[in-house]
Amino acid sequence: MSRTDMVFSDQARELRRIVELQRQENRAGGGNMRTLAVLSGKGGVGKSNLSLNLACALAEQEQRVILLDADLGLANLDMLCGITARYNLAHLIDGSRSIDDVLVEFSHNIWILPGGSGIRELADLDEARLAELIEMLAVLEDRADILIVDTGAGIHRGVLTFAAAADTAILITTPEPTSIRDAYGVLKALRSTPMSGSKTDIAFVVNMTHSEAEGLEVANRIRMAANRFLGLSINYMGCILNDDLVGKAVRIRKPFYQLYPASRASECVRKLGYALTGAPEKGIANINPPRGLKAFFFRLTRGHFVER
Ligand SMILES: Nc1ncnc2c1ncn2[C@@H]1O[C@H](COP(=O)(O)OP(=O)(O)O)[C@@H](O)[C@H]1O
Ligand SMILES: [Mg+2]
Repeated sequence: MSRTDMVFSDQARELRRIVELQRQENRAGGGNMRTLAVLSGKGGVGKSNLSLNLACALAEQEQRVILLDADLGLANLDMLCGITARYNLAHLIDGSRSIDDVLVEFSHNIWILPGGSGIRELADLDEARLAELIEMLAVLEDRADILIVDTGAGIHRGVLTFAAAADTAILITTPEPTSIRDAYGVLKALRSTPMSGSKTDIAFVVNMTHSEAEGLEVANRIRMAANRFLGLSINYMGCILNDDLVGKAVRIRKPFYQLYPASRASECVRKLGYALTGAPEKGIANINPPRGLKAFFFRLTRGHFVER
Protein backbone atom coordinates (compact mmCIF):
# COMPACT_ATOMS: atom_id res chain seq x y z
CA MET A 1 0.00 0.00 0.00
CA SER A 2 1.36 3.45 -0.84
CA ARG A 3 1.68 6.15 1.77
CA THR A 4 -1.29 8.04 0.31
CA ASP A 5 -3.41 4.89 0.32
CA MET A 6 -2.54 4.39 3.95
CA VAL A 7 -3.60 7.91 4.85
CA PHE A 8 -6.89 7.42 3.02
CA SER A 9 -7.57 4.12 4.65
CA ASP A 10 -6.84 5.63 8.08
CA GLN A 11 -9.25 8.44 7.32
CA ALA A 12 -11.91 6.03 6.16
CA ARG A 13 -11.50 3.98 9.32
CA GLU A 14 -11.74 7.13 11.45
CA LEU A 15 -14.88 8.21 9.60
CA ARG A 16 -16.49 4.80 10.06
CA ARG A 17 -15.64 4.98 13.75
CA ILE A 18 -17.23 8.43 14.13
CA VAL A 19 -20.38 7.36 12.27
CA GLU A 20 -20.63 4.26 14.48
CA LEU A 21 -20.18 6.39 17.63
CA GLN A 22 -22.96 8.70 16.48
CA ARG A 23 -25.25 5.72 15.87
CA GLN A 24 -24.52 4.40 19.35
CA GLU A 25 -25.12 7.85 20.82
CA ASN A 26 -28.47 8.09 19.07
CA ARG A 27 -29.45 4.69 20.41
CA ALA A 28 -28.40 5.81 23.90
CA GLY A 29 -30.28 9.09 23.57
CA GLY A 30 -33.93 9.86 23.44
CA GLY A 31 -34.17 11.47 26.88
CA ASN A 32 -35.40 14.93 27.65
CA MET A 33 -32.95 15.93 30.34
CA ARG A 34 -30.98 19.02 29.54
CA THR A 35 -27.30 19.00 30.53
CA LEU A 36 -25.27 22.06 31.47
CA ALA A 37 -21.57 22.09 32.42
CA VAL A 38 -20.20 25.08 34.34
CA LEU A 39 -16.49 25.71 33.79
CA SER A 40 -13.82 28.39 34.02
CA GLY A 41 -10.18 28.94 33.22
CA LYS A 42 -9.24 30.10 36.68
CA GLY A 43 -10.36 28.80 40.08
CA GLY A 44 -12.32 30.88 42.56
CA VAL A 45 -14.29 32.81 39.96
CA GLY A 46 -17.68 31.53 41.12
CA LYS A 47 -18.41 28.19 39.40
CA SER A 48 -19.79 26.41 42.43
CA ASN A 49 -21.81 29.41 43.53
CA LEU A 50 -23.26 29.77 40.04
CA SER A 51 -24.05 26.04 39.78
CA LEU A 52 -25.82 25.94 43.13
CA ASN A 53 -27.69 29.23 42.89
CA LEU A 54 -28.66 28.71 39.26
CA ALA A 55 -30.12 25.40 40.42
CA CYS A 56 -32.15 27.35 42.99
CA ALA A 57 -33.38 29.79 40.34
CA LEU A 58 -34.41 26.96 38.03
CA ALA A 59 -36.03 25.09 40.92
CA GLU A 60 -38.07 28.22 41.60
CA GLN A 61 -39.33 27.93 38.02
CA GLU A 62 -40.43 24.38 38.93
CA GLN A 63 -37.61 22.78 36.98
CA ARG A 64 -36.26 19.70 38.73
CA VAL A 65 -32.47 19.93 38.92
CA ILE A 66 -29.68 17.47 39.64
CA LEU A 67 -26.33 19.01 40.56
CA LEU A 68 -23.32 16.84 39.78
CA ASP A 69 -20.29 17.86 41.80
CA ALA A 70 -17.50 16.95 39.38
CA ASP A 71 -14.67 19.00 40.83
CA LEU A 72 -11.70 16.64 40.83
CA GLY A 73 -9.93 18.72 43.44
CA LEU A 74 -11.81 20.04 46.41
CA ALA A 75 -15.38 18.94 46.09
CA ASN A 76 -17.02 22.01 47.48
CA LEU A 77 -20.66 21.94 46.50
CA ASP A 78 -21.45 20.16 49.76
CA MET A 79 -19.47 22.84 51.64
CA LEU A 80 -21.57 25.53 50.01
CA CYS A 81 -24.89 24.01 50.88
CA GLY A 82 -24.09 22.50 54.24
CA ILE A 83 -24.73 18.87 53.39
CA THR A 84 -22.51 15.91 54.15
CA ALA A 85 -22.48 13.33 51.42
CA ARG A 86 -21.80 9.78 52.60
CA TYR A 87 -21.48 8.23 49.17
CA ASN A 88 -20.51 9.31 45.69
CA LEU A 89 -20.36 8.20 42.08
CA ALA A 90 -17.52 5.78 42.93
CA HIS A 91 -19.93 3.74 45.09
CA LEU A 92 -22.36 3.60 42.19
CA ILE A 93 -19.59 2.47 39.85
CA ASP A 94 -18.32 -0.29 42.16
CA GLY A 95 -21.88 -1.44 42.68
CA SER A 96 -21.84 -1.06 46.47
CA ARG A 97 -24.59 1.60 46.54
CA SER A 98 -27.72 2.39 44.58
CA ILE A 99 -28.56 5.68 42.97
CA ASP A 100 -30.93 6.46 45.84
CA ASP A 101 -28.12 6.01 48.37
CA VAL A 102 -25.83 8.33 46.45
CA LEU A 103 -28.28 11.06 45.48
CA VAL A 104 -28.82 13.66 48.23
CA GLU A 105 -32.07 15.60 48.29
CA PHE A 106 -31.09 19.16 49.04
CA SER A 107 -34.28 21.18 48.80
CA HIS A 108 -37.47 21.43 46.77
CA ASN A 109 -36.62 20.33 43.19
CA ILE A 110 -32.85 20.06 43.86
CA TRP A 111 -30.77 16.89 44.28
CA ILE A 112 -27.02 16.61 44.58
CA LEU A 113 -24.99 13.83 42.98
CA PRO A 114 -21.51 13.87 44.57
CA GLY A 115 -18.85 12.83 42.08
CA GLY A 116 -15.89 12.18 44.38
CA SER A 117 -13.26 9.81 43.06
CA GLY A 118 -15.89 8.37 40.72
CA ILE A 119 -15.29 11.22 38.28
CA ARG A 120 -11.76 10.04 37.60
CA GLU A 121 -12.89 6.43 37.32
CA LEU A 122 -15.31 7.28 34.51
CA ALA A 123 -12.43 7.42 32.06
CA ASP A 124 -11.34 3.83 32.69
CA LEU A 125 -14.65 1.97 32.62
CA ASP A 126 -14.91 -0.92 30.21
CA GLU A 127 -17.88 -1.20 27.87
CA ALA A 128 -19.92 -3.47 30.13
CA ARG A 129 -19.45 -1.42 33.31
CA LEU A 130 -20.17 1.74 31.40
CA ALA A 131 -23.40 0.36 30.00
CA GLU A 132 -24.42 -0.68 33.53
CA LEU A 133 -23.62 2.75 34.96
CA ILE A 134 -25.53 4.53 32.22
CA GLU A 135 -28.53 2.30 32.87
CA MET A 136 -28.40 3.11 36.61
CA LEU A 137 -28.18 6.82 35.90
CA ALA A 138 -30.88 6.69 33.26
CA VAL A 139 -33.57 6.43 35.94
CA LEU A 140 -32.78 10.06 36.73
CA GLU A 141 -34.10 11.00 33.32
CA ASP A 142 -37.63 10.72 34.68
CA ARG A 143 -36.86 12.42 37.96
CA ALA A 144 -35.32 15.67 36.79
CA ASP A 145 -35.37 18.11 33.90
CA ILE A 146 -31.88 19.58 34.12
CA LEU A 147 -28.43 18.31 35.07
CA ILE A 148 -25.91 20.98 36.11
CA VAL A 149 -22.29 19.85 36.33
CA ASP A 150 -19.97 21.90 38.54
CA THR A 151 -16.52 21.16 37.13
CA GLY A 152 -13.04 21.94 38.46
CA ALA A 153 -10.91 24.79 37.18
CA GLY A 154 -8.37 24.71 34.45
CA ILE A 155 -8.03 23.15 31.09
CA HIS A 156 -7.35 19.60 32.07
CA ARG A 157 -8.94 16.95 29.95
CA GLY A 158 -11.76 16.01 32.26
CA VAL A 159 -13.22 19.49 32.38
CA LEU A 160 -13.19 19.86 28.62
CA THR A 161 -14.76 16.47 28.19
CA PHE A 162 -17.61 17.47 30.50
CA ALA A 163 -18.06 20.66 28.55
CA ALA A 164 -18.05 18.85 25.23
CA ALA A 165 -20.52 16.25 26.47
CA ALA A 166 -23.07 18.78 27.72
CA ASP A 167 -25.80 20.40 25.66
CA THR A 168 -24.54 23.76 26.89
CA ALA A 169 -21.17 24.70 28.38
CA ILE A 170 -21.41 27.73 30.65
CA LEU A 171 -18.07 29.47 30.89
CA ILE A 172 -17.66 31.86 33.81
CA THR A 173 -15.13 34.64 34.20
CA THR A 174 -14.67 37.77 36.29
CA PRO A 175 -13.71 41.13 34.74
CA GLU A 176 -10.09 40.60 35.86
CA PRO A 177 -7.65 40.39 32.93
CA THR A 178 -6.14 37.09 34.16
CA SER A 179 -9.57 35.52 34.41
CA ILE A 180 -10.53 36.75 30.93
CA ARG A 181 -7.26 35.46 29.49
CA ASP A 182 -7.83 32.03 31.06
CA ALA A 183 -11.44 31.96 29.84
CA TYR A 184 -10.16 32.62 26.34
CA GLY A 185 -7.70 29.76 26.83
CA VAL A 186 -10.61 27.45 27.67
CA LEU A 187 -12.46 28.53 24.53
CA LYS A 188 -9.38 27.81 22.47
CA ALA A 189 -8.96 24.37 24.01
CA LEU A 190 -12.68 23.66 23.70
CA ARG A 191 -12.56 24.41 20.01
CA SER A 192 -10.01 21.69 19.45
CA THR A 193 -11.64 19.13 21.74
CA PRO A 194 -13.13 16.33 19.69
CA MET A 195 -16.83 16.23 20.43
CA SER A 196 -18.03 12.86 19.27
CA GLY A 197 -20.86 14.03 17.10
CA SER A 198 -22.90 17.15 17.57
CA LYS A 199 -21.65 20.45 18.84
CA THR A 200 -21.99 22.00 22.26
CA ASP A 201 -23.43 25.48 22.76
CA ILE A 202 -21.11 27.81 24.59
CA ALA A 203 -22.65 30.44 26.83
CA PHE A 204 -20.81 32.64 29.24
CA VAL A 205 -21.37 34.60 32.41
CA VAL A 206 -19.35 37.48 33.82
CA ASN A 207 -19.26 37.29 37.61
CA MET A 208 -18.44 39.89 40.26
CA THR A 209 -19.05 42.91 38.04
CA HIS A 210 -19.71 46.36 39.43
CA SER A 211 -22.43 47.09 36.92
CA GLU A 212 -24.40 45.51 34.11
CA ALA A 213 -22.48 47.76 31.72
CA GLU A 214 -19.18 46.32 32.90
CA GLY A 215 -20.51 42.80 32.26
CA LEU A 216 -21.54 43.77 28.76
CA GLU A 217 -18.20 45.37 28.05
CA VAL A 218 -16.27 42.24 29.10
CA ALA A 219 -18.76 40.11 27.15
CA ASN A 220 -18.25 42.10 23.98
CA ARG A 221 -14.49 41.78 24.25
CA ILE A 222 -14.63 38.00 24.71
CA ARG A 223 -17.26 37.55 22.04
CA MET A 224 -15.29 39.56 19.52
CA ALA A 225 -12.02 37.74 20.19
CA ALA A 226 -13.72 34.34 20.09
CA ASN A 227 -15.38 35.18 16.83
CA ARG A 228 -12.39 36.76 15.16
CA PHE A 229 -9.59 34.47 16.27
CA LEU A 230 -11.36 31.19 16.98
CA GLY A 231 -14.36 31.38 14.68
CA LEU A 232 -16.62 30.60 17.64
CA SER A 233 -19.96 32.23 18.19
CA ILE A 234 -20.79 32.27 21.88
CA ASN A 235 -23.85 33.47 23.79
CA TYR A 236 -23.63 36.02 26.57
CA MET A 237 -26.05 34.91 29.29
CA GLY A 238 -25.58 37.88 31.59
CA CYS A 239 -23.60 39.01 34.61
CA ILE A 240 -23.70 38.54 38.37
CA LEU A 241 -23.04 41.71 40.29
CA ASN A 242 -20.46 41.74 43.03
CA ASP A 243 -22.40 41.34 46.24
CA ASP A 244 -21.12 40.98 49.83
CA LEU A 245 -24.10 38.77 50.63
CA VAL A 246 -22.52 36.02 48.49
CA GLY A 247 -19.58 35.69 50.86
CA LYS A 248 -21.90 35.91 53.82
CA ALA A 249 -24.05 33.05 52.51
CA VAL A 250 -20.92 30.98 51.81
CA ARG A 251 -19.94 31.35 55.47
CA ILE A 252 -23.42 30.31 56.59
CA ARG A 253 -23.22 27.38 54.14
CA LYS A 254 -26.52 28.10 52.41
CA PRO A 255 -27.16 29.26 48.82
CA PHE A 256 -27.42 33.07 48.67
CA TYR A 257 -30.45 32.61 46.43
CA GLN A 258 -32.34 30.97 49.28
CA LEU A 259 -31.01 33.17 52.09
CA TYR A 260 -31.29 36.49 50.29
CA PRO A 261 -33.73 36.04 47.40
CA ALA A 262 -34.02 39.78 46.79
CA SER A 263 -30.27 40.52 46.81
CA ARG A 264 -28.47 41.95 43.80
CA ALA A 265 -26.72 38.65 43.14
CA SER A 266 -29.99 36.69 43.37
CA GLU A 267 -31.72 39.06 40.96
CA CYS A 268 -28.90 38.47 38.48
CA VAL A 269 -29.04 34.69 38.85
CA ARG A 270 -32.83 34.78 38.44
CA LYS A 271 -32.27 36.46 35.07
CA LEU A 272 -29.69 33.83 34.11
CA GLY A 273 -32.28 31.16 34.87
CA TYR A 274 -34.75 32.88 32.59
CA ALA A 275 -32.08 33.22 29.92
CA LEU A 276 -31.85 29.43 29.91
CA THR A 277 -35.52 28.60 29.96
CA GLY A 278 -36.62 31.48 27.78
CA ALA A 279 -39.34 32.70 30.13
CA PRO A 280 -40.74 35.23 30.76
CA GLU A 281 -38.22 37.28 28.76
CA LYS A 282 -36.56 36.00 25.65
CA GLY A 283 -33.92 33.35 26.26
CA ILE A 284 -30.49 33.25 24.69
CA ALA A 285 -30.34 32.40 21.02
CA ASN A 286 -29.18 29.21 19.30
CA ILE A 287 -29.53 27.00 22.30
CA ASN A 288 -29.47 23.24 21.65
CA PRO A 289 -32.54 21.16 22.37
CA PRO A 290 -31.92 18.75 25.26
CA ARG A 291 -30.30 15.49 24.24
CA GLY A 292 -30.85 13.49 27.40
CA LEU A 293 -28.82 12.06 30.25
CA LYS A 294 -27.81 8.79 28.61
CA ALA A 295 -26.47 10.64 25.61
CA PHE A 296 -24.57 12.95 27.97
CA PHE A 297 -22.81 10.12 29.80
CA PHE A 298 -22.24 8.37 26.53
CA ARG A 299 -20.49 11.42 25.08
CA LEU A 300 -18.66 12.00 28.35
CA THR A 301 -17.07 8.59 28.51
CA ARG A 302 -16.58 8.21 24.77
CA GLY A 303 -14.94 11.63 24.82
CA HIS A 304 -12.08 10.08 26.75
CA PHE A 305 -11.64 7.38 24.14
CA VAL A 306 -11.88 9.84 21.28
CA GLU A 307 -9.30 12.14 22.85
CA ARG A 308 -6.76 9.42 23.33
N1 LIG B 1 -21.10 37.62 42.76
C1 LIG B 1 -20.22 37.55 43.76
N2 LIG B 1 -20.03 38.60 44.60
C2 LIG B 1 -19.14 38.55 45.60
N3 LIG B 1 -18.37 37.49 45.86
C3 LIG B 1 -18.50 36.40 45.07
C4 LIG B 1 -19.43 36.36 43.98
N4 LIG B 1 -19.34 35.15 43.40
C5 LIG B 1 -18.40 34.46 44.07
N5 LIG B 1 -17.88 35.20 45.08
C6 LIG B 1 -16.82 34.80 46.03
O1 LIG B 1 -15.88 33.97 45.37
C7 LIG B 1 -15.63 32.81 46.14
C8 LIG B 1 -15.33 31.64 45.22
O2 LIG B 1 -16.51 31.21 44.60
P1 LIG B 1 -16.74 29.69 44.16
O3 LIG B 1 -18.12 29.59 43.64
O4 LIG B 1 -16.34 28.76 45.26
O5 LIG B 1 -15.67 29.59 42.97
P2 LIG B 1 -15.14 28.32 42.14
O6 LIG B 1 -16.14 27.23 42.31
O7 LIG B 1 -15.04 28.81 40.73
O8 LIG B 1 -13.81 27.97 42.70
C9 LIG B 1 -16.86 32.63 47.01
O9 LIG B 1 -16.53 32.03 48.21
C10 LIG B 1 -17.38 34.01 47.21
O10 LIG B 1 -16.88 34.55 48.39
MG1 LIG C 1 -15.90 25.22 42.95
